[in-house]
Amino acid sequence: MHTPPDPSQFRPSDDSVRAVACQAIEQYRDQPGNLLPILHAVQHALGCIPAGAVPVLAEGLQLSRAEIHGVISFYPHLRSTPAGTVLLEVCRAEACQAMGGEKLADHAQQRLGCSFHATTADGAITLEPVYCLGLCAQSPAVMINGQPHARMTAGKLDRLLQAEGV
Ligand code: FES
Repeated sequence: MHTPPDPSQFRPSDDSVRAVACQAIEQYRDQPGNLLPILHAVQHALGCIPAGAVPVLAEGLQLSRAEIHGVISFYPHLRSTPAGTVLLEVCRAEACQAMGGEKLADHAQQRLGCSFHATTADGAITLEPVYCLGLCAQSPAVMINGQPHARMTAGKLDRLLQAEGV
């Protein structure tokens, strides 16, 4: 079993954060509405959008730091600390809700000891809601590290997480 990263220990160097932020700004400089693609590019490169990227982005895009923070906190898939080794997304949309999705969501939160939009204390798993995975006919559904799983039960979820080493 590998050791998951500890989000509290995530400290990319100022230089690397600045370089990534500047590169993202440059890549999307001429694109209207470029803030979201820039944020996604930073997150893709660094695993999150560290606090140190915000002033660089604000300066480069002529926006306030508050505006950048506002966008990061508005979109659930943008994060300012890195996700856990395993990303568990539980579908919270209607078809899954009708097929026991709420119970499954409760089970996931209880088993992990964290709520949605959070990472377990050991940094192993991040739990996020998702709104339809296209598996409505086989609901409830979850996604683990980008891999969809249908007809989910609490027991099946536990086995899948165990297989991920958590
Ligand atoms: S509502 Fe959950 S997969 Fe569509």
